[in-house]
Amino acid sequence: MNDFAHLKDRMKDFWALGDYAEVAKRFVPAAEKLVAACDVGVGDHVLDVAAGDGNVAVAAAGTGARVTATDFAPRLLELGRERTAALGLDIRWEEADAEALPYPDGTFDVTTSAFGLMFAPRPEVAIAEAFRVTRPGGVVGLTAWTPDGFTGQITALMGEYLPVPMGTDSPVDWGIETIMRRRLAPHSSGLRVSRGTIAWEFASLEHAVDWQEDRFGAMVAARRALPDDRYAELRERFVGLMAEWNRAGDGTVRLPAAYLLVVARRDRWTASAV
Ligand SMILES: C[S@@+](CC[C@H](N)C(=O)[O-])C[C@H]1O[C@@H](n2cnc3c(N)ncnc32)[C@H](O)[C@@H]1O
Repeated sequence: MNDFAHLKDRMKDFWALGDYAEVAKRFVPAAEKLVAACDVGVGDHVLDVAAGDGNVAVAAAGTGARVTATDFAPRLLELGRERTAALGLDIRWEEADAEALPYPDGTFDVTTSAFGLMFAPRPEVAIAEAFRVTRPGGVVGLTAWTPDGFTGQITALMGEYLPVPMGTDSPVDWGIETIMRRRLAPHSSGLRVSRGTIAWEFASLEHAVDWQEDRFGAMVAARRALPDDRYAELRERFVGLMAEWNRAGDGTVRLPAAYLLVVARRDRWTASAV
């Protein structure tokens, strides 16, 4: 097994920790915005990459599109299948690594990834794959946490402590517009970039910490892997970040989770590989 395959196996275990379905409920507004920005509609063939438990897939299916949802973590696929079956949605779920999608060139009208591609270890490979499986003239739509928002800061903090990288050394680089533009430039000359913010609300700071310690996979992983004193240090910094970013003034917590949203039309003339 090569280094990347080994790394990804460890990453799959990591993404299965905590209660992803519960955490992902907070990301739904971004998924809906992404689907609307990509102008997904009836009959479109949509691929959602690194789909988690299906936020984007559900929103896309709601427009009447034909949807395939993929993730590399079997646990997430299980959660996604259960969720969309319970909703009565006809979504195809398949296990797939974002860096090696098992589809022929130009299969899909729209390829999306919400906070998913940003965790692939090789950005250029994952981006090339997303464009390769999208038909020329079709659309690739992505969201990524920006470094100047609460979730971006937490992602960067966790990267300092986790034994397994969450993606590249710096997944939140995906949320920097100049870097995103540079990475997509070989595939698309027509980008639309916008920004969004989701408010993460909790009854109190204690509730916010408890909630994340139980459900947020990265915190669960860190708690398991780190010696007590190192985990205590991480926890203190985590709480400090929440206090710093809290925008509520009434004892509750409201954290702004800022993200970049990019819609890129695949050029008709580009080569499909990096
Ligand atoms: C933050 S979650 C986002 C999930 C979903 N798109 C959403 O918006 O809720 C990141 C997802 O990326 C998946 N993932 C990370 N690296 C991947 C890779 N190389 N190939 C496929 N999926 C990957 C994880 O399993 C996880 O489900």
